[in-house]
Amino acid sequence: MNIQQLPTPCFVLDEARLRQNLELINQVQQQSGAQIILALKGFSMYSVFPLVRQYLSGATASSLNEARLINEYMGELSHTYTPAYLDHEFEEMLRLSSHLTFNSMSQWERFRERVKAYNQQQVAAGKAPVSCGIRVNPQYSEVATDLYNPCVPGSRLGVTRDQLGDNLPEGIEGIHFHTLCENDSYTLERTLEALESRFGDLLHRVKWVNMGGGHLMTREGYNTDHLIGLLKTFREKYQVKVTLEPGSAIAWQTGILVASVLDLLDSQGIQVAILDTSFSNHMPDTLEMPYKPRIRNAYHEPVAEKPTYRLGGMTCLAGDFMGDYSFDQSLEIGDKLVFEDMMHYTMVKTTTFNGVNLPSIGIWNEDGSFRLVKEYGYDSFKDRLS
Ligand SMILES: Cc1ncc(COP(=O)(O)O)c(C=O)c1O
Repeated sequence: MNIQQLPTPCFVLDEARLRQNLELINQVQQQSGAQIILALKGFSMYSVFPLVRQYLSGATASSLNEARLINEYMGELSHTYTPAYLDHEFEEMLRLSSHLTFNSMSQWERFRERVKAYNQQQVAAGKAPVSCGIRVNPQYSEVATDLYNPCVPGSRLGVTRDQLGDNLPEGIEGIHFHTLCENDSYTLERTLEALESRFGDLLHRVKWVNMGGGHLMTREGYNTDHLIGLLKTFREKYQVKVTLEPGSAIAWQTGILVASVLDLLDSQGIQVAILDTSFSNHMPDTLEMPYKPRIRNAYHEPVAEKPTYRLGGMTCLAGDFMGDYSFDQSLEIGDKLVFEDMMHYTMVKTTTFNGVNLPSIGIWNEDGSFRLVKEYGYDSFKDRLS
């Protein structure tokens, strides 16, 4: 099957590319001695969890639903963190997690007795207790977009050193921070300096440090040797277990969103193509971030003398468009457009606004064949409403 024959709109994961990323990440894992797990918020395509599981030992959840998915489809307890736990979900969170990170001192105080009681039962039954940690805010981030910067003044994510006092509360065994977003190892190096300058004394007293996500080690040009060196030095200096939980790095450049041209029109001299996808529903980051996605065989910026189109989605939101791209040949109704690198975050953020169906999900298998794993229809739209 080739792209022309695919049902659209459709996310298509390239299994061979995913394996390549996992192999590289596993090398970092083995050479550094750090554990690297998948952040589900970035990539939750559970039909390929068996492949992920061949290389990574687990995953991190930011909700009960993600923790369930990890337990059910990876067969592992999750590393769990949410900005605030829900009272009625907490017992199940404990049951589904190996590690639980608290976002604030008040959250820890609210739940610590329940953790203690659960852990006593676990130990009495000869089972492993849940290891608890606290998320800290090192007050250093190089993320330029505030939407993704957890260190902006007033950030709700993590405790600052002044909120912690001289020691960690009894029962806290780990420190978690997450301040990177699509960054390299040199940003991590500077972040570790900030972390050590504020929390260095406490790092000697914990069993584990979770360095969050944002380590884009599968991007071309990323210096994995430098990362490995940093992780080894940190582990040895503090005698801690180090965990990284990237999402984007795992699914980076592993798949596409394929759409078809539904209509072509002239709007006051601007050529517009309406697609059977939606920037708002199917690629919300393109409008939120915002960024202009790459399209295979298209010029990313308009080129004079070449057929140029403003691409529009199929919702009636006026702003549901992306423009402008040029092509070597004029578009025709029925043509397929391939949006690149749509596996991380895009797939997990889709909505059915306007009643537009979610894109199907398929896989290019490693033997070159195509497998359609999911199609959506009226029920998916209706289930979200009542
Ligand atoms: C706490 C935490 N861990 C991990 C991640 C994954 O980050 P990324 O997909 O950029 O690697 C995120 C992303 O927001 C996060 O908030």
